[in-house]
Amino acid sequence: MNSLEIRTPDDFHVHLRQGPAMAAYAARTARGFGRFMAMPNVVPPLTGPAALADYRRAVAAAVAASGYASTPLSCFKLVPGMGREAVLACAAAGAVAGKYYPTGSTTNASDGVPEPAAVADELAAMQDAGLVLSIHGEDPAAPALERERAFLDVVDGIVGSYPRLRVALEHLSCAESVRAVLSWPERVGATITAHHLSYAIDDLLGGGLRPELFCKPVLKSAADRAALLEAAVSGSPRFFFGSDSAPHPPEAKAAGAAGCYTAPVALSLLAAAFEEAGALDRLEAFVSVSGARFYGLGLNPGVLRLSREGWTVPAAVDGAVTPAAGRTLAWTAERI
Ligand code: NCD
Ligand code: ZN
Repeated sequence: MNSLEIRTPDDFHVHLRQGPAMAAYAARTARGFGRFMAMPNVVPPLTGPAALADYRRAVAAAVAASGYASTPLSCFKLVPGMGREAVLACAAAGAVAGKYYPTGSTTNASDGVPEPAAVADELAAMQDAGLVLSIHGEDPAAPALERERAFLDVVDGIVGSYPRLRVALEHLSCAESVRAVLSWPERVGATITAHHLSYAIDDLLGGGLRPELFCKPVLKSAADRAALLEAAVSGSPRFFFGSDSAPHPPEAKAAGAAGCYTAPVALSLLAAAFEEAGALDRLEAFVSVSGARFYGLGLNPGVLRLSREGWTVPAAVDGAVTPAAGRTLAWTAERI
């Protein structure tokens, strides 16, 4: 197959940052995706309706200036003490999800949630409002490669305690998580990134260190990657795309920041991974259908064309180094 047309995709997990760089990141995502969920770990965090609306407006303006048709979806940051009313106000301001970052788990998460009990009222309010609880599922106290596995019991507790709460476990990185998601009721779904479907820990540090592949959760074994790929191509509506594209300027990466800037390459990587699995015909379900259905949204209009046209990824894109920088990717993506 040399070309493939799919419905315009969605990205249910992307970091667009703030300040001068945000417009370029927003435009890059809008170029490939009809909708995207912008993550709230900016400074100050998006914890209330006014901040959420302001950020959404700024992002929407950047998208409009890009000339691509794409719609931002809002996600607030869940913090202890926020209160039921603030959650309901975020829902009224258009939020479709709230993000649970375990305290200290990742970029700008020092104000996160120490334990589910600390946000019991807020979780009940989210359940009542029909919001999706989006979870960064890592226990920062566990060893780096075991953090996700170590957090599955916490997720299990939340799923059991809030029987109507919809939950999206973000950026799955290991086989145990795939099994856990499938063991929970259908109101629990999960995103998988392009980098976790394409790379394993040896790509990150088996040869020379490649900081552009360093993210949280850290890339795991080849067997874990295979399990993620199997889930993504299975056609199960539980698994859908969230890029977790997370750009950092070179000086921050040099200082050790976690995050892969995948927005410029994600669709090319996904096509290659699905092709490797002999499942290009399942790509549309993963990237354009299952997530929309999980979030109760209609499907995007329009078409994305993937062509087998090799392109060499520039050393830097929008001032950040992407995975596959300097390498040639087999597939080119273009909205038509
Ligand atoms: C993300 C970031 O930099 O904001 N980093 C990452 O490694 N994925 C935050 C996150 O999603 O963990
Ligand atoms: Zn993220």
